[in-house]
Amino acid sequence: MHSFNLLNQAIQIAGLNLRNSMVMPAMLTNFSDSRGLVNDRHLAYYRRRALGGAGMIIVEPSYVHPRGRIRNEQLSLCDESALPGLRRLAQAIHEQGAQAAIQLHHGGRNARSLVTGQQPLGASPIPTPGLEEPRVITPRELNEVIDSFARAASLVRQSGFSALEISATTGGLLGQFLSPAANVRMDKYGGSPENRVRLLKAVIKAVQDEIGSDFPLICRFNSQEDPSIKGGLSLKEGKEIAILLEKAKVHAAHVYVEYDGAPQPLDQRPLKKAELLHLAQSIKEAINIPVIAVGRIDPLSAEKALRGKKADLIAMGKALIADPDLPNKIKEGRLESVRPCIVCLRCIDNVRTDKILECTVNARAGHETEPSAVPASPTRKVLIIGGGPAGMEAARMAALRGHQVTLCEKSPRLGGLMVLGVILNPDLIELKDYLIRELRRSQVRIELNREVTPALLKEMDQEALVVATGGIPVRPEISGGAPEITLNLCDILGLLNGKTPPVVNPIKGTLWRLAAWVFKYAYHPSLLRGLMTINFPVGKRLVIIGGKFAGGELGLAYAQKGKAVTIVEESADLLSDLGPTMKAIYLAKMKKHGVTLLKEALVLDITREGVHISMAGSPQLLEADSVAMAGGLKKGAQLIHHLQDYPDPVHLIGDCNEPARIKEAIAAGHKVGCSL
Ligand SMILES: Cc1cc2nc3c(=O)[nH]c(=O)nc-3n(C[C@H](O)[C@H](O)[C@H](O)COP(=O)(O)OP(=O)(O)OC[C@H]3O[C@@H](n4cnc5c(N)ncnc54)[C@H](O)[C@@H]3O)c2cc1C
Ligand SMILES: Cc1cc2nc3c(=O)[nH]c(=O)nc-3n(C[C@H](O)[C@H](O)[C@H](O)COP(=O)(O)O)c2cc1C
Ligand code: SF4
Repeated sequence: MHSFNLLNQAIQIAGLNLRNSMVMPAMLTNFSDSRGLVNDRHLAYYRRRALGGAGMIIVEPSYVHPRGRIRNEQLSLCDESALPGLRRLAQAIHEQGAQAAIQLHHGGRNARSLVTGQQPLGASPIPTPGLEEPRVITPRELNEVIDSFARAASLVRQSGFSALEISATTGGLLGQFLSPAANVRMDKYGGSPENRVRLLKAVIKAVQDEIGSDFPLICRFNSQEDPSIKGGLSLKEGKEIAILLEKAKVHAAHVYVEYDGAPQPLDQRPLKKAELLHLAQSIKEAINIPVIAVGRIDPLSAEKALRGKKADLIAMGKALIADPDLPNKIKEGRLESVRPCIVCLRCIDNVRTDKILECTVNARAGHETEPSAVPASPTRKVLIIGGGPAGMEAARMAALRGHQVTLCEKSPRLGGLMVLGVILNPDLIELKDYLIRELRRSQVRIELNREVTPALLKEMDQEALVVATGGIPVRPEISGGAPEITLNLCDILGLLNGKTPPVVNPIKGTLWRLAAWVFKYAYHPSLLRGLMTINFPVGKRLVIIGGKFAGGELGLAYAQKGKAVTIVEESADLLSDLGPTMKAIYLAKMKKHGVTLLKEALVLDITREGVHISMAGSPQLLEADSVAMAGGLKKGAQLIHHLQDYPDPVHLIGDCNEPARIKEAIAAGHKVGCSL
């Protein structure tokens, strides 16, 4: 068993005692309304994270001035109307034993006129790419900003928070002044690091004058900016800034690296585990105040970092959205029961598209106020059909509530489409394994290789039925489609589960049967990923019909294995089922790996030579050795016609109800499992 002595050890920031070294960093939630007030959703969400054992919770970026507001749903620290809610929030966190801090934020050039009704203000007239051009802030407005931070700090102290964090990353005005790429001023606020840090220092001084220099004050700033940004902050300058902050009597440095204009800013790309630790280490070498490190730091890397004195505290963001109990599980040595974040960035995409924060793997994140696993009364015999994410979550929750649950899965293994997904996307492996582990630990009776047929249904004595059989593949009607080179995503999944696809070329037939037999007994994602380099079942030149996420992921995985991949999409929008962050990431990766993307391309025919398409009215042949049909799924279940007269409640969930993604499947499973 691993030891996490240092992570679990209590630590102090300016005399403030934290029960351990784990910190939840500030993350927007979009839970508020246009008044910017704390509501029950905030209380439940943050209370839950505090209950999970974190040493300190830093509540989301909250605007100190209406002109610096970046979202309609952001929390306000502008005036006294915020006080009652803030008091309840600080209390809710403290009651669970965590220290409560909150981030003070002014969006600067990132504020949106749609939200504020005014042009954003910046250090210089340089916009964040994709956002509005700011007007240069006037000296009077600068004084107003300084005053607004001081007023906000006073509200924080009055409402009982035990610490505050000033946001000085480039996501806000103070960080934009620090950045040589965003600040090209020639006055006392521009040029040297001393000048660029002047505004931040003035803010710190005003805050200290208002609430005292002993009140724990954390500053989040960039150790460097994304190296792809021309003229961005260097690590050398980041260290100089850290030293100046220490001199200004900041009590802890929260080391970040991001740039809103970078092609893939830090929080908008899947980081490798502990990828940024070396930056925290560099800053720590320069200063003597506690350093908080952040950036997909897993428990093992965290403990190692503390032991190696690379940081003093560890911030865990998405990991705590995914599993608020992570700190307690670390303390109790229960790492195997940690619900893993799969870095799908759905949380970020929700927030970026003005929805509330939600999470793929944790259906309760953002929904903590809704009823959970209360004991069922009366308890019933429940049959779950299908062992994909929807069925597994429904079964687990229903069993947790006391129902007698049986889950039937027709294939030899649990996971549903994730059995295929993990081969293409290794980040899913931990989630699939977690869902299976938790299901096996529950009281659910699991029957594999058990297809529920209408006849079987009649035989089974059940009192409630949950159908989670997945979507039905859309098979485009293409005249003369050559079956010998054509594969369907579900055929590939079937093959992995030991089933020979229905239509195969006679020469390849034996190979298919052999492969199906082997995979039935020897399925291992990394082995199968390795096999993707050979020319079976997919040849060297692969054309994928369907440019939504499933087709895109398949194409990318094969391109990474050296195949020549072309994706054909009928509509004008590729990856239309992804949020903006993931879409940008996938498109960039596809470009890097040479995937040809054809939009508004109509498939006319598939022959042994390849795929005949029409683009802008002109026909073309895309030569191919294999063609994969990834036209998506449609809702429906083969059993559906036999369920109309079923005497007990029937629930259709997941892809068979509405094809979407794992997030929707788990959420639907959770909801039905909690409501049966
Ligand atoms: C190639 C590919 C990659 C994907 N990658 C991602 C990704 O990275 N992230 C993401 O969020 N989503 C991804 N998805 C989508 C995601 O996998 C699905 O949305 C999700 O698996 C749906 O879950 P489900 O439980 O509703 O159905 P499924 O996962 O389809 O599970 C249904 C299960 O029911 C079983 N079953 C069917 N009929 C019966 C029966 N009569 N009796 C017993 N068992 C039966 C099936 O064998 C299957 O195991 C991907 C999809 C594809 C096709
Ligand atoms: C949904 C979401 C919203 C975030 N919003 C902010 C923000 O407004 N300001 C900020 O400084 N960081 C924000 N972050 C970044 C986190 O604070 C954290 O630094 C980042 O997620 C990396 O840490 P992690 O890998 O442990 O999640 C956000 C992260 C997430 C997931
Ligand atoms: S939505 Fe995805 S990235 Fe965000 S916390 Fe959940 S699993 Fe992690």
